[in-house]
Amino acid sequence: MEEKEIKAFFGRELLAWYREIKRDLPWRINRDPYRVWVSEIMLQQTRVDTVIPFYNAFMSRFPTVKALAEAPEEEVLKRWEGLGYYSRARNLQAGAREVMERYGGIVPDDKASVAGLKGVGPYTTGAIMSIAFNRPEPAVDGNVMRVLSRFFCLEEDIAKPATRVGIEKLAASLIPEGAAGDFNQGLMELGALVCTPKSPGCLTCPVMEHCAGRLAGREHELPVKTKAKPPRPEYRAAVVVTGMAGNAGKILVRQRPDTGLLAQMWELPHLLLPNDMSGIFDAKSPKEQGELAAMLGQMLEAETGLLIRPRSWLMDADHVFSHIHWHMRVYEADLGEEAGLSEAAAAAEESLVAAEAAEGYAAGSGAAAGYRWIGKEDMETLPFPNLFIRILKEYWK
Ligand code: ADE
Repeated sequence: MEEKEIKAFFGRELLAWYREIKRDLPWRINRDPYRVWVSEIMLQQTRVDTVIPFYNAFMSRFPTVKALAEAPEEEVLKRWEGLGYYSRARNLQAGAREVMERYGGIVPDDKASVAGLKGVGPYTTGAIMSIAFNRPEPAVDGNVMRVLSRFFCLEEDIAKPATRVGIEKLAASLIPEGAAGDFNQGLMELGALVCTPKSPGCLTCPVMEHCAGRLAGREHELPVKTKAKPPRPEYRAAVVVTGMAGNAGKILVRQRPDTGLLAQMWELPHLLLPNDMSGIFDAKSPKEQGELAAMLGQMLEAETGLLIRPRSWLMDADHVFSHIHWHMRVYEADLGEEAGLSEAAAAAEESLVAAEAAEGYAAGSGAAAGYRWIGKEDMETLPFPNLFIRILKEYWK
C-alpha cells in the first residue's frame, strides 16, 4: 500500500473505532470550549480516572470562565488540591481572566488567540481548536507520539523538541475531513486503552493490520525516548507543633512564598537540611535523631520566635516532583513556656537565614510572618500539598 492509502486507512479506521467505543467522560457531554480547556489542563500529567472526580467538582464550583476568573486564587488552589502541579491551576485562572478582559468572557475561536492564553501550549491549543471547534489542528502529547511512533515505525527520540514538531506535521496530515475533534480524541483513546506503554494490546487494535512497528516486531521498543535525569533528593525535617491555651488543639502552619514550587500553598514548618547533613537523616541512633530534632527546634525557633521543642518522631513521608524528591522527616513538637529567642536559637539563625532565603521565604524578617494556627476544620479551606495532607491525616487520626 502507498503511504497515502496507509494514512487514509489510519484516519478512517481510528475514527470508526473511536465513535464505536468512546468512553462517556464528563468533558465529552458537549463541546463547550471552557469545559474542554479545563479538562485538557487537568489531564496533563494526570490519569483520566484521577481527573474525573476533580473535574466534576471543579466544574460545579466554576461552571463558566467568569466564575473561575472571579474566584479567589486560594479557592482555585483548594479545588486543585490533590491533582498536583499547581501552576496549572494558577495559569488556568490567569487564562480565564485574560478571556474576560480581552474576549468578553468567550473563549476565542481562533488559534493564535487560544495559543496566547496563559498556560496553553501547542498541545492544549490543538486540543481546544479540534475538540471544541472541530478545526483541523493536531494535538500531540506523549501518548500520541507513542501511537504514531509505533504505527509509522519512527525511530526519532520523542524527548527531542524536533521530533514533536515532525510528529505534529504527520498528525495534521492524518486528520480526516471534518472530523478533527473525534480523530484527535481517537488518538488519545487508542494511546490510553490499547497502544499502552508497557503491554500494547495489538490484537484489539483497529489499525494493527498496517502498523509498521508491530509488523517489524518492534512495538515494545518504540517509541525511542531518552531518560530524564532522576529527581534530585532533598532532605527536610518538619514539625507538627501543638498549640497551648487559646491555640489548644490547633497546629502551626505557614504559607509558602508567592512564587516557585507550590507557591502560596500552606505547609507544616520545616527545614531544608544542608546537603552535608543529609547523613543525619539516615542515622538511626536515638542520639543522632535527638540531635536532628534539637537543631530543628532551634532553627524554627529562630524563625518564629516560638519555643518549638520536637518531642517525638511522627513519620517519614516523601513526594516526588518533576525535578526534586522530597524526603520529609516529621516530628511532633510542644511549645515551650516563653516565647522569645534563646541563645542557641540566635546561633542557629545565621544558617537558617541562608537556607530559607535560598528557598524564597521571608526569613529574618522578624517573628512569624506567614504563620498561622489552624484547627482540623481549616483544612477544608486552605490549600495544602498532598504530602502535608497525608501527614496531617495521620496526625489527626
Ligand atoms: N487525555 C488528554 N486529553 C484527553 C481527552 N480529551 N480524553 C481522554 N483522555 C485525554
